[in-house]
Amino acid sequence: MKKPLHPIDFSHRRKQFLTKIKKGVAVFPAAPEVIRNNDVHHEYRQDSNFFYLSGFEEPNSILLFANQTKTPFQMFVQPKDTTKELWEGKIIGPEGAKKKFGADAAFSSSDPSLFNEAFVKALLEADVLYYRLGLNEDWDRRIFSLMKKAVRQLGRTGRGFWPIHDPNEILGEMRLIKTRAEAERLERAANITAEAHVSAMKIAKPGMFEYEIEAALYHAFRGQGAGRLGYGSIVAGGSNACVLHYVANNKYLEDKELLLIDAGAEFDYYTADITRCFPTNGQFTPEQREIYSAVLKAQKSCVKMARPGKSMKDLHNHAIEVLVEELKNLKVLKGSSASLIKQKAYLPFFPHGTGHWLGMDVHDSGRYFSESYDTPRHLEPGMVITIEPGLYFGESSKGPSKYKGIGIRIEDDVLITSSGNKVLTTGAPKEIEEIESLCQST
Ligand code: GLY
Ligand code: MN
Ligand code: MN
Repeated sequence: MKKPLHPIDFSHRRKQFLTKIKKGVAVFPAAPEVIRNNDVHHEYRQDSNFFYLSGFEEPNSILLFANQTKTPFQMFVQPKDTTKELWEGKIIGPEGAKKKFGADAAFSSSDPSLFNEAFVKALLEADVLYYRLGLNEDWDRRIFSLMKKAVRQLGRTGRGFWPIHDPNEILGEMRLIKTRAEAERLERAANITAEAHVSAMKIAKPGMFEYEIEAALYHAFRGQGAGRLGYGSIVAGGSNACVLHYVANNKYLEDKELLLIDAGAEFDYYTADITRCFPTNGQFTPEQREIYSAVLKAQKSCVKMARPGKSMKDLHNHAIEVLVEELKNLKVLKGSSASLIKQKAYLPFFPHGTGHWLGMDVHDSGRYFSESYDTPRHLEPGMVITIEPGLYFGESSKGPSKYKGIGIRIEDDVLITSSGNKVLTTGAPKEIEEIESLCQST
């Protein structure tokens, strides 16, 4: 039996958000349903900000926040419909939205005039609109046309449009510092994911296909209660590991090659993001071992460094410094470290960043810089980051031919604490001896 998690306090989140928008109005349309083909939809997942503020998972819904009204939190949701419910399952409906989701008022979203009128009314009392432009053109047009309507209703005042702010600037900051309940969900996602990586190490063998391992990961995720994948799994044998966003997952696994797996389970809308690499036949070749050890050294050193007061940029610069030294030791690069770093000589082998925020989205929201966007911000307790340096020697690599086809990335999820950090993904081993012994156990 797994430990019960502390509940998410959606009402507290809304209160905080409403305080921050002051005399503003905020609109959040639900994620759109996307047709896959004919009358079949892609799997539905609620928009992260929408879910963050409501916990409500139904499509065709809208959240409307307006501080200066008697009903600061309004929901527009699908009306109850017995025929639709017969096909698609229970619909909460406006009454349910009030009772179970804390709406101060709730209406049907199938009559567009109900939202339109409520929005215009709220806007007339507000001094700023929080709405994320550019996500959905139909919605952008609807919002503009309603703003025009509101301006006309003001009569000849000479005042211009309401300024539009991206609510993500507020929510990104709120989402960036995880509460205990959020950290627990990330830890659960990390545990589920680590266990799946371990079983992949045990079952992968030369002669299997990448998709067999992908299927085993999915089985392990869903079998442990994960809602879905946090992102498309990368299961990359041999030189496919050098394709950073490889998703085809259809190659035959050869003897003596490595398998890179970058996969994460989403649990209760929070995702893990783990990368591990291991030899399909259970034993690293000397060349694979050299590159793996170099990446592991950089990764562990960055994990050690991650604490309040350091920035993501500090971690990246540190990863570069360690990897440049390692590439020099391996005779991949020659010259003074300072000039190799200045010329970015490492880029063909380490072409990506060292990590990112992690949370409801795998690349989570939140500023990476100070408020004025001019200096990298410091890590703070409650942030969750990934640390994921890598080295890649693809087919067209200019590195030594003995390394051709080797691609290594090692990625952990790390919660920043007041005294340093807590690695959430220790359940997935990364030391060579541990990996080899897992790979050799069946
Ligand atoms: N899995 C995506 C990433 O590591 O950023
Ligand atoms: Mn990542
Ligand atoms: Mn990843």
